Amino acid sequence: MRSKKEKFEELRQKREQALLGGGRKRIEKIHASGRLTARERIHVLFDEETFQEMGVFVTHRSTWPGMADKKIVGDGVVCGQGLIDGRLTYAFAQDFTVFGGSLSESNAGKIIRLMDIALDNGAPIVGLADSGGARIQEGVASLAGYASIFLRNTLASGVIPQLSAIMGPSAGGAVYSPALTDFIFMVEGTSHMFITGPNVIKKVTHEDISQEELGGADTHNTKSGVAHFKAEDDEECIDQIRTLLSFLPQNNLEDPPYAAPSDDPMRMDPRLNEIVPDSARAPYDIKEVIGMVVDDGNFFEVQKYYAQNIVVGYSRLNGHVIGIVANQPKHMAGVLDIESSIKAARFIRFCDAFNIPLVTFEDVPGFLPGTDQEWNGIIKHGAKLIFAYCEATVPKLTVVTRKAYGGAYCVMSSKHIRSDYNVAWPTAELAVMGAEGAANILFRKEIASADDPEAELKKRVDHYADTFENPYIAAGLGYLDDVIMPDQTRPMLIHALENLFNKRQQLPPKKHGNIPL
Ligand code: HXC
Repeated sequence: MRSKKEKFEELRQKREQALLGGGRKRIEKIHASGRLTARERIHVLFDEETFQEMGVFVTHRSTWPGMADKKIVGDGVVCGQGLIDGRLTYAFAQDFTVFGGSLSESNAGKIIRLMDIALDNGAPIVGLADSGGARIQEGVASLAGYASIFLRNTLASGVIPQLSAIMGPSAGGAVYSPALTDFIFMVEGTSHMFITGPNVIKKVTHEDISQEELGGADTHNTKSGVAHFKAEDDEECIDQIRTLLSFLPQNNLEDPPYAAPSDDPMRMDPRLNEIVPDSARAPYDIKEVIGMVVDDGNFFEVQKYYAQNIVVGYSRLNGHVIGIVANQPKHMAGVLDIESSIKAARFIRFCDAFNIPLVTFEDVPGFLPGTDQEWNGIIKHGAKLIFAYCEATVPKLTVVTRKAYGGAYCVMSSKHIRSDYNVAWPTAELAVMGAEGAANILFRKEIASADDPEAELKKRVDHYADTFENPYIAAGLGYLDDVIMPDQTRPMLIHALENLFNKRQQLPPKKHGNIPL
């Protein structure tokens, strides 16, 4: 029989094995590639000394020839709970040093248990992915693990925030667990996501493409819109995760975290009165407007590099978290198109699910015309944005800074779709379309038959602009609650937001709506 001392020594050794994962050589390889190991990532993610691991000694149950001798303590995933900025959070980190971080029946079991506990305890879950996908030696048992994770991702959606960071490879069906979560972070140069890799693509479509170009951080942040954030390295990525969590509630039954403000709620920035140019065609940067209005100018942008004609992200007003949706006149004149509609709709739905009030800054010339947009379904994708705004029952505030034309007027959190408080700046133009377009349609015959068609067009355009391009017709109809000087925006928004603290609005009972997908 072994002595107590020997038993203690056994524990020490097993724990050491667990900490080493696949061994020193493989750890060095990870470092050489510019990545942190799974345990180092967990260490950076959580507040010092708060992480408590689960399933430390789990090993695989594979019966594949030779696998019985290759049991590695922990089986390639570090799972547990701890505090991030003092708040309970669950996380798992795939360990690439153990069978390439691949998903086995056993390590899937650890992730599944973690997800169940996170859901039971109403706290966010963070997945740090670095994996060669399904553990090839385990076949369908590994696939069962993936499917069970997908189910839990779906059930937890809208209940607890789910964040995924891709910090190495993520290929095949393995990409779908991150895709089912709320936010995806990627690291430049080291993370890749694709359904089929370059070799398969080469065989099937004869396209030559690198992993980076196919599914790197830039690709998914700029082209596909699959990812929401990109970072230069693992540390920055984890820092972004911590920042995002600082804006989110623990679950759908809680409010987002209040942070005592240092900024004056009555602060009025005089630069706001100057920012909209005299010419309706001239651009300005809506992010500057946001910066002048929110607490200490802090704005945490989501999907910064994708569909830049719309800006979305988190901020605070007098310490209260808000989600901002803003047309960006600096990019494609702030027009709404397929990509910007999808981007904003998803953001709005997340905010609504997690009790984050929405503030909309509107300067939109309408929906983008063209066959590309029509044939690719702007009708159904634009409808997503309408659906998301209509469905949202969180407090909704709207500031029209300049254009609010046509269908885009209706979409961008208008009064008619249950926005709570809508104001406009004196530079606002709420109309069916711009003056030139309107004059050309309404007075085409008169312009064509005039002695001087150009002068006639100008006369008609000026008349339309003077009559309709202002906020007062809408304000007179009660579609706007007020017209304010731009520098009054911050105090006005704070006042309106704080009046809406007890807002309770229900949707009609239903299983779920049918958002146009
Ligand atoms: C078991 C795996 C593995 C896997 C990698 N390894 N992937 N072991 N199952 N899926 C092991 C390797 O054998 C190697 O072991 C170690 O991990 C490191 O792998 P390397 O190839 O040396 O690393 P690297 O050169 O960095 O390449 C990483 C990689 C490559 C691009 C991820 O390993 C790869 O292509 N792996 C297979 C990817 C794949 O096809 N997965 C299945 C996808 S289908 P040693 O002992 O040599 O260190 C799928 C279905 C999910 O996932 C469906 C869900 C619905």
